[in-house]
Amino acid sequence: MDHQQTSASNGCPLAHGHHGFEPFDQKNPFVAYAEMRREQPVMFDERVGYWVVTRYDDVKAVFDDWETFSSENAQAPVRQRGAEAKKIMDEGGFTAYSGLSARRPPEHTRIRKVAQKAFTPRRYRALEPSIRAHVVRRIEQMLARSDARGDFLMDLAYDVPTVTILTLIGADTEKVDLFKQWSDSRAAMTWGDLSDEEQIPHAHNLVDYWQECLRLVQDAHDHDRDTLVGDMVREQQAGDEITDHEIASVAYSLLFAGHETTTTLISNSMRVLLAHPDQWQRIVADPTLIGPAIDEVLRYSGSIVAWRRKALKDAVVGGVEIPASSELLLVMGSANRDESRFDDGELFSIDRENSREHLSFGFGIHYCLGNMLAKLQAKIALEEIVRLMPNVQLQDGVDIGFRDNLSFRVPLEVPVKWKVAA
Ligand code: HEM
Repeated sequence: MDHQQTSASNGCPLAHGHHGFEPFDQKNPFVAYAEMRREQPVMFDERVGYWVVTRYDDVKAVFDDWETFSSENAQAPVRQRGAEAKKIMDEGGFTAYSGLSARRPPEHTRIRKVAQKAFTPRRYRALEPSIRAHVVRRIEQMLARSDARGDFLMDLAYDVPTVTILTLIGADTEKVDLFKQWSDSRAAMTWGDLSDEEQIPHAHNLVDYWQECLRLVQDAHDHDRDTLVGDMVREQQAGDEITDHEIASVAYSLLFAGHETTTTLISNSMRVLLAHPDQWQRIVADPTLIGPAIDEVLRYSGSIVAWRRKALKDAVVGGVEIPASSELLLVMGSANRDESRFDDGELFSIDRENSREHLSFGFGIHYCLGNMLAKLQAKIALEEIVRLMPNVQLQDGVDIGFRDNLSFRVPLEVPVKWKVAA
């Protein structure tokens, strides 16, 4: 396919280049997003090989049409695996791919049904008191410091959602650092821009991570566990059609998706709200505004800014012809600021009435399974921060960086300070 011709035929002069879009650079992608929405809302980017889709209606329509646009590439490595990494993974018995997000119906429908039966609100709501106690413990540890300074990412957001998901799954809650390390490896190996050499330590981590998922399933067969994996094994024993490999794959999904993005959501909530002190003060005065504020954070600064799909047949997106087998990058981070859906889309406002229309959890049959748990944990964290450290502020003069990644927009820190009570 001649992409130059396609660009020109869309009326976009080639001089526009990529409109400033750098696929892996998450520092401030929003200026480029706005230009793409305006100038070339469906653009082929030959550096990654994806059609980049940036308008709200187009992103939503593609998510919604699973028969034309499959998610089978959602977990594929953006950069090919190097020979050495591949060897390590093959020899280590790494056969994981995706629990749900990259599976297609009818397989996806069958497995999601089993996972959903196990992942009930009853199961995670029961954890609410322990999540709250954990948050309070972390805040008290912060407040005990004599320099009255901290980093919300590492001091609170890092381990609260991780302990929650490890508890739900039935994994060892003492191994937070190990699971975080494995998850970082998964994010880097799938959506990162690593050289062959750089992939090697991550390949070892992925082998260990997958072996742990297989062990968890075996353990649930050997012992009757009151955990999510235990529930799925019982469903299997009661006749639901799901294999041990599929249960391990769901665990492999949840042990990543279940904390990584929530760590980012809690971090982003504090980062963005404290950057808008007037709005922070409003939620301090009225904590019932926390729910809407979290929806607005998800719209304005989502944890995942881009997600992939593959065209199963020739299709048209936003008036542009997309040939069968093309891969698409749906930029939710851009769709969420599209002025055609969100007035003053670049503006952060907890008063916005339609924040919840954001696409940060995707849309359609793959809509995020854990969205309620993510929001619940962010709500608990904010409620306790508002209560225990209402005068917290961002540290002065810090320019917060973001990790390089195609999909996950992860701040490196959220440095804060507070006044010590007299
Ligand atoms: C702020 C937090 C989160 C964000 C932004 C997020 C975002 C997403 C996105 C964009 C998708 C793909 C949707 C699509 O393809 O249409 C997804 C799917 C999924 N998420 Fe989340 N997620 C979050 C938290 C969680 C949590 C806490 C869990 C589990 C405990 C979870 C589990 C899943 C699973 C299992 C899927 C695959 C669903 C399927 O394919 O049927 N996520 N999420």
